[in-house]
Amino acid sequence: MKKILPSILSADFANLERDISELEEIGIDMFHIDVMDGNFVPNISFGFPIIEAIRSKTNKIFDCHLMIANPENYVERFCQAGCDMVSFHIEATNHADRVIQVIKNCGKKAGIVLNPQTPIEQVKYLLPKLDYVLIMTVNPGFGGQKFIPEMLEKIEELANIRVKNNYDFLIQVDGGINTETSKLCRDKGADLLVCGSFLFGAEDKKNTLGDLLR
Ligand code: DX5
Ligand code: ZN
Repeated sequence: MKKILPSILSADFANLERDISELEEIGIDMFHIDVMDGNFVPNISFGFPIIEAIRSKTNKIFDCHLMIANPENYVERFCQAGCDMVSFHIEATNHADRVIQVIKNCGKKAGIVLNPQTPIEQVKYLLPKLDYVLIMTVNPGFGGQKFIPEMLEKIEELANIRVKNNYDFLIQVDGGINTETSKLCRDKGADLLVCGSFLFGAEDKKNTLGDLLR
């Protein structure tokens, strides 16, 4: 089943509770949470206290996207902060297999993220262990960037590998998702579509949500 995950990076940080409950009311059951460290990416978003604060306001699924260097140092704390799914960048660690184990030992779903320039080849050996793979469709760090169309081929390649090997990871995409790019990504095999600025900028979020899956 295809899903839209609103990225709370585009929410109003002074009114997070309001924005989350508004989205819950229109049927959202998974939230995408972008953690940026100012090192792995040239931007800083938020960390544990914010996640813990919103965790107490909703029981929907929290999908945490770690854009941090050396995720092995922090991943357990993100699991404890109340994330249900945790993904980290292959470019950010030399210990990917270990990080996956830590996430799974915490009872959470593990995902790995590939920057646009990173080939699937680099994570091939990890694919059987993963619950999801996130193909970045922009360079991470900011909301509101333009979708990189060359990533469609990468989504297709990953979907083909999945079929061929009978793997069961989900394919997630993140960056520049709107009604048009959502359809293109879904047609290539993407299951989970992160959407930030397009959804939060919409006048009528309920209709937009419908359009994003049409
Ligand atoms: C970018 C983040 C995204 C971002 C998406 O580094 O990982 O989740 O919030 O925002 P839009 O949908 O505006 O590209
Ligand atoms: Zn993200």
